[in-house]
Amino acid sequence: MILDVDTGVDDACALLLAALHPDLDLRAVTCVGGNAPLADVVRNTLTVLTTAGRDDVPVAAGADRPLLEDPVDARHVHGQDGMGDLDWPVAARAADDRHAVELLRDHLLAAAATGERVTLIPLAPLTNIALLLRTYPAVAQGIERILFMGGAAAVGNATASAEFNIFHDPEAAAIVFDSCADLGITLGMYGLDVFYEPRITRAQAAELIAADPQGPAGLAGRLVTFQCDRFGGESATIGDAGAVAAVIAPDSLTTSKLPARVELTGRYTRGRTIVDHRDWSGDLTHDPHGQSDVIVDVALAVDNARLSTLWL
Ligand code: BDR
Ligand code: CA
Repeated sequence: MILDVDTGVDDACALLLAALHPDLDLRAVTCVGGNAPLADVVRNTLTVLTTAGRDDVPVAAGADRPLLEDPVDARHVHGQDGMGDLDWPVAARAADDRHAVELLRDHLLAAAATGERVTLIPLAPLTNIALLLRTYPAVAQGIERILFMGGAAAVGNATASAEFNIFHDPEAAAIVFDSCADLGITLGMYGLDVFYEPRITRAQAAELIAADPQGPAGLAGRLVTFQCDRFGGESATIGDAGAVAAVIAPDSLTTSKLPARVELTGRYTRGRTIVDHRDWSGDLTHDPHGQSDVIVDVALAVDNARLSTLWL
């Protein structure tokens, strides 16, 4: 798999799982501005991978801003450094010289040439992925599927309508939805309808810290503790890590293939993912208004105990 991240407290949780779980083969990580400015995202991502002992995984910096709008970060959620202000020792290594889009192209075309298929997991605004699919559509041959964290069939978080990753760069999200339909790439949505459910308790986090204070478990425990403190609860979501866990255990998600679009123009709805729940009776080809040609496999329910256990 390849992750595209805006690390990010819960992106860090996702990176730890992808880097260390024996069932997963993490090939590369690309970075985009989102939760924090791009330079912070790259530093945080390298730091997590070094902590996990995975300096073999290439990391590349990509887009530092959305396609059209100015970036608006989420440091009020993720801390000033984007990763919980933990004073965790920063990685010594540098990022790859290539732009994220070039690193993605190289890996995906190499996979296509050998008949491999890579699962691409964007956990951030979709700017890098939109640029990739528009610039190098041939990469579709190397993609097994795209499972992105973002969107909401029901309630948003950045606004009442829109989830943060989509709201941050709606045009990029719309390009990715359209490109996947055009290029025949299966697109899965791990959105807010399931995102908050797999959770870790403060007590479980304390056990992780006690077991391995300076190592990956200690970092994982401190990230969870940061979120519990910030939101004042006894547990915290594993967030983006749920999408990675769902690759290990696909049957832990209940999904539905539904027409979906990204709203670009609404004053109060810009960035909303419009998921069409009407009864199509299994036939998605008879829409007289032509709005049903992008089909997304939307996660609507989750076995939260299973996914959180996988992350621990
Ligand atoms: C998403 O936005 C970010 O804050 C998180 O890392 C996650 O990817 C949730 O809306
Ligand atoms: Ca993220």
